[in-house]
Amino acid sequence: MKFTYYGQSCFTIETKGKTLLFDPMITSNTLASHIDLDSIKADYILISHGHGDHVEDALKLAKSNEATIVSNYEIVTWYNEVHKYEKSHPMNHGGIWNFDFGRLRMVNAVHSSVLPDGTYGGNPVGFVIDNDEGCFYFAGDTALTWDMKLIPMWSKLDFAILPIGDNFTMGIEDAVIASDFIECNKIIGVHYDTFGFIKIDHNQAKQAFNEKGKELILVNIGDSIEV
Ligand code: NI
Ligand code: MN
Repeated sequence: MKFTYYGQSCFTIETKGKTLLFDPMITSNTLASHIDLDSIKADYILISHGHGDHVEDALKLAKSNEATIVSNYEIVTWYNEVHKYEKSHPMNHGGIWNFDFGRLRMVNAVHSSVLPDGTYGGNPVGFVIDNDEGCFYFAGDTALTWDMKLIPMWSKLDFAILPIGDNFTMGIEDAVIASDFIECNKIIGVHYDTFGFIKIDHNQAKQAFNEKGKELILVNIGDSIEV
């Protein structure tokens, strides 16, 4: 699988010939000003919750790519009814669906969710995706939650994408514990540095994971890695 980072919680995973774009927010991210929005291709856009730093560019990129929006029922309905964008797949916590890129399980996240115009955004979610190329978990915005312990009962993760910026989500200390709960030693950090409340010390963060025999990968915005 190929991971490309676009800042905040926005990234793509390329797998099984499909490109999955998560939580697109590029336009107003000053750290991502070198990213050309039109260069981002997506077959699917997966949205963890309704906050602006996760949905800002979703509609534009959905339209330009004719991508399928996958999110909770309330967010998908908002795209259908308010924005008249129909190509979508609604789910909710606990649901599994077999897409052409693999099996997706929608899981719990402890956070909040409201859409930019004030519409109720349902409950925030995370995603566990597996296929014969690998298995990963994207936590969305979340606190450390006991429910993360369920994930290794279902799936053997190859890597996980966790928020690490603290203040609005879990920080480094809890992300290390989360990596224990999900039984995964390869973590890609997201949701850090974008604005003042979530600035982190990269070396300290990596060291906190190293001390537990784990790897924290911080990808430069615009760069790709094989995972
Ligand atoms: Ni949020
Ligand atoms: Mn956020």
